[in-house]
Amino acid sequence: MAETLTVTDNRTGKKYEIPVQDGTIRAMDLRQIKVVPDEFGLMTYDPAFTNTAACRSRITYIDGDKGILMYRGYPIEQLAEHSDFLETSYLILRGELPTSAQMEQWTHEVTFHTMLHENIKTLLQGFRYDSHPMGMFISAVAALSTFYPDAKNIFDVESRRLQTIRLVAKVPSLAAYAFRHIIGRPYVLPDNDLSFSGNFLNMLFKMTEPRYKPHPVLERALDVLFILHADHEQNCSTHAMRGIGSSHVDPYSALAGAAAALYGPLHGGANEAVLRMLTEIGSTDHVPAFVKRVKGGDGRLMGFGHRVYKSYDPRATIIKRIADLVFEVTGKNPLLKIALELERIALEDDYFVSRRLYPNVDFYSGLIYQAMGFPVSMFPVLFAIPRTAGWIAQWEEMLTDPEQKIARPRQIYIGSAKRDYVARDKRK
Ligand code: CMC
Repeated sequence: MAETLTVTDNRTGKKYEIPVQDGTIRAMDLRQIKVVPDEFGLMTYDPAFTNTAACRSRITYIDGDKGILMYRGYPIEQLAEHSDFLETSYLILRGELPTSAQMEQWTHEVTFHTMLHENIKTLLQGFRYDSHPMGMFISAVAALSTFYPDAKNIFDVESRRLQTIRLVAKVPSLAAYAFRHIIGRPYVLPDNDLSFSGNFLNMLFKMTEPRYKPHPVLERALDVLFILHADHEQNCSTHAMRGIGSSHVDPYSALAGAAAALYGPLHGGANEAVLRMLTEIGSTDHVPAFVKRVKGGDGRLMGFGHRVYKSYDPRATIIKRIADLVFEVTGKNPLLKIALELERIALEDDYFVSRRLYPNVDFYSGLIYQAMGFPVSMFPVLFAIPRTAGWIAQWEEMLTDPEQKIARPRQIYIGSAKRDYVARDKRK
């Protein structure tokens, strides 16, 4: 028997049977609940979408209570152990792990598209020396739509495939160019004999040596960090990607909007905010006073808490392990001690325990990035590179879902009732 929810309208005494599917009722099924026939019908009110599913998705599964994260059914722990970012991005985008031949083809395609049009350099030259690289990244991604006007053919499967390859391949190059711009060094061309992450390190850090050789531990660490950040279902930036994409704009413009959403300190900018917070705390002795301040409502413990995870973020567990490997190569980040003390105190404190606030992916990732030589301002950019795969997969899923339309939430109007215009000299 089909599951239903019986709703009794006390205003009319009428009963309604609302179908329940996948633990969800359809908001539109509430529309039939009216007192008079020409009434608009019942709506739901859900600011910040805390209890509203806006799509059906096959890409990423999260169980926030159990701390489970899976891409296309594969647990994040297994992907972090056995896969690499390019393979994981293929999985996220195409739905299955690639065969050897498919992987070879995918690697070739992405590698073949890493170069940027020379005019991108001119665009980046326009930025000041101290520009935030995320601002440069967002602008450059948006600019790509002018280089590839064919991207407007969003319902052409072949065009979508090509833009997907271009985006996955070019975002590391854009990020590296932004980085080289702020540190005042010449741009480095991609080295197509290196891995995805190895080539990114090459474009960032190559100096005068004829061939850049990435440190294998750092190359792998970065690759695993990319795997961990590749998708995270319906978060703020993914919602932006889907929402902007629902107007049928090209994927570069939509992705620039998604990256802008990521930039904020409550989302992908949190790793940057964590480092600034740890630097401000300055020493383990100051941790109790800082925690007291946060509990008093003055600021937040950045890198803690999550809308979905109400236990340890599984990505944070993996990142802590990677941090140890990276620090063996780079030396310990001096801020690590403060982070560990902060975590210890917070996990014992009733304020954080009762609100189920645990370290999230951003709490330790910044420490690794800093130890690897990245300036703090590059952290959100490092998040955007792998998330590009997730954003495109979610965008394509939205476009090909017959139930989706242009995104258009409703509102409850609480402004003035109708009133007549008053001439300026008559206003009080
Ligand atoms: N420090 C102190 N208190 C917090 C924190 C925090 N980091 N996070 C939540 N709270 C408190 C909040 O004040 C509220 O308390 P009360 O019930 O007394 O008003 C309660 O916990 C619930 O918080 P909320 O703001 O309703 O939770 P949310 O689901 O809207 O916010 C969040 C989720 C991630 C925005 C929030 O936890 C936060 O601001 N964390 C710090 C920023 C951060 O680390 N963001 C990265 C998220 S993971 C990476 C990503 O995917 O973007």
